[in-house]
Amino acid sequence: MNLLKGQAMSNRMWGGRFGGSPDDIMEEINASIGFDQRLFAQDIRGSLAHAQMLVKQGIISAADGKAIADGLGQIEAEIKDGTFTFSRALEDIHMNIEARLGELIGEAAGRLHTARSRNDQVATDFRLYVRDALDHMGAQIHGLMGVLLNQAEAHAETIMPGFTHLQPAQPVTFGHHLLAYVEMLARDAGRFGDARARMNESPLGAAALAGTGFDIDRDMTAQALGFDRPMGNSMDAVSDRDFALEALSAAAICATHLSRLAEEIVIFSGPAYGFFDLPDAFSTGSSIMPQKRNPDAAELVRAKTGRIIGALGGLMIVMKGLPLAYSKDMQEDKEGVFNALDSLSLSLAAMSGMMGALGINGEAMRAAAGSGFSTATDLADWLVREAGLPFRQAHHVTGQLVALAEENNCALEDVPLADMQNVEAAISENVFSVLSVDNSVASRRAFGGTAPDNVRARVAHWQNWLSENAPS
Ligand code: ARG
Repeated sequence: MNLLKGQAMSNRMWGGRFGGSPDDIMEEINASIGFDQRLFAQDIRGSLAHAQMLVKQGIISAADGKAIADGLGQIEAEIKDGTFTFSRALEDIHMNIEARLGELIGEAAGRLHTARSRNDQVATDFRLYVRDALDHMGAQIHGLMGVLLNQAEAHAETIMPGFTHLQPAQPVTFGHHLLAYVEMLARDAGRFGDARARMNESPLGAAALAGTGFDIDRDMTAQALGFDRPMGNSMDAVSDRDFALEALSAAAICATHLSRLAEEIVIFSGPAYGFFDLPDAFSTGSSIMPQKRNPDAAELVRAKTGRIIGALGGLMIVMKGLPLAYSKDMQEDKEGVFNALDSLSLSLAAMSGMMGALGINGEAMRAAAGSGFSTATDLADWLVREAGLPFRQAHHVTGQLVALAEENNCALEDVPLADMQNVEAAISENVFSVLSVDNSVASRRAFGGTAPDNVRARVAHWQNWLSENAPS
């Protein structure tokens, strides 16, 4: 008796879903139409380019070429308006479209697949999809950079604590803090752009794996699809997915950056810091604790990073053991990429919304910036500059002065001059000029430092960059 048939597999606890015949189970594991229908526009675009090329090369007739183009146009319209019936028995988007083309135009439909295989077809479709997604992601990153630049400009002089180990370390401006993310995002956009440039080669015409004996023109199809050139090795063309891995790694790095910013929104909007007021639109209340305002959107941006990094790991693991050329394993390349790129796109949109509408509590930031003896480094630097002490000794003297302030439960700038001079005779009245957070921040004028003038200059630099690199 075949255990896969009938009652045994229909056990409601675990088998109900797989109660069908081996044919049904095979169909379910084999089919990709549930997710690759997303590639319909790319599939049709690729087929149109291929058919035109076959006509030009005299491989199919102009009449067949026209029938194919008309039929594909109708199919695209049917899919867009939701009247197309997808069939799991037809496995994937390629066969679903080809079968419908057969219904519409008859025998000519069968000529479309001349000098082509689903292996080069799917590689082409997926490249076109990922290429579009990379462009979209780049534009969204630019959008978020613009939002952060506006906030940075408005807060070029807003003082907050800068942290190391999440302990107040030295005062910085909030504008400078935000600009750190602008730099990261610019590199993210660069990574997406690099990945795009490297992936922009056409697999079409590689056929199953060995190339084709038909006299095709691969340059023509590459050009029609906006690729820079055809890929140079048919086996590589159908069997590598490094373009998807590269897109995912750029996405994972970008998501990691967003996650750190999200984490800061979570921490600094909490009452312990109170630096940020969360915008209504991106927070929620608690169903039981009326006082709460939760940073849900930031938490979800932070969490979605998990699935994006997971998609990268997942696809690397799928690919790492595959001999050349195509194996069906590679059908598993799509869902992770779709999900990761959707998630990153949503996260970028949520982050732009949140950062644009974030309320900034400058007073809480300034108060925190003054705590924790955050100008101690400025004091040590003053001792080097004005009193000629070696830095190591200045560090030691400053440590003693911090201990003194701690004993007296006061800020560094409130330690009386005479007490300071007891520790180090060379200290003069002039030291108080560096002990305030404003002076500390204003003094960090070397390139890349936090001084408000530097912040404004860097904002201008990136605004200029954004207008010069506007997505086309
Ligand atoms: N649905 C398949 C995929 O996504 C298309 C390629 C099928 N090729 C094959 N030789 N069975 O990978």
